[in-house]
Amino acid sequence: MPAPTIRHGGVGDLDGVIEVMNAAFDAQFGERWTRSQCAGILPMSGVELRIASLGASAPIGFSLMRTVADEAELLLIAVAPEARRRGIGQALLEDFIDRAIADGARHLHLEVRDGNPAIRMYHAAGFAVAGRRHEYYHGANGGHHDALTLRKTVES
Ligand SMILES: CC(C)(COP(=O)(O)OP(=O)(O)OC[C@H]1O[C@@H](n2cnc3c(N)ncnc32)[C@H](O)[C@@H]1OP(=O)(O)O)[C@@H](O)C(=O)NCCC(=O)NCCS
Repeated sequence: MPAPTIRHGGVGDLDGVIEVMNAAFDAQFGERWTRSQCAGILPMSGVELRIASLGASAPIGFSLMRTVADEAELLLIAVAPEARRRGIGQALLEDFIDRAIADGARHLHLEVRDGNPAIRMYHAAGFAVAGRRHEYYHGANGGHHDALTLRKTVES
């Protein structure tokens, strides 16, 4: 498989993003965002959508981030199921870290469902658990799931 390219995304990418989102997130956990949630946040100051694709193909992964002053938050990250475990998630995470630092952020954070396998990827990138939000995610069939807050501080 060729290496993915990661680029800035916009409203025109939302069809592909929602396709990846719906395939990537299991509805039972309540982590998935709707198209209108994505469209609503995109125009906000400091928000950036990043798109991973192979050549000229449709998106195979994406991240959504927000930077405010010296803080950056990874709001979403997802890779299409058929493209996983090939380093694309890690490349998107590194891209988030690089862009956050370039934008002047020193404190990086994200929320992730307790038990999500992605936690291993975040730990490997230097994020550590800083807190827990009880029953933060509300799943499709009534289940509630805790979120962990993970943080990474970048030395200046
Ligand atoms: C999390 C996610 C983005 C990872 O994407 P990916 O392209 O498969 O990630 P990578 O191939 O770069 O994996 C990097 C490392 O993360 C860890 N990892 C990723 N997925 C894993 C899994 N299902 N089980 C265990 N470890 C996993 C591994 O350590 C992996 O390294 P390795 O393959 O060398 O062992 C992808 O699984 C996904 O879209 N999940 C659903 C959406 C989601 O839960 N997003 C995170 C919360 S917002």
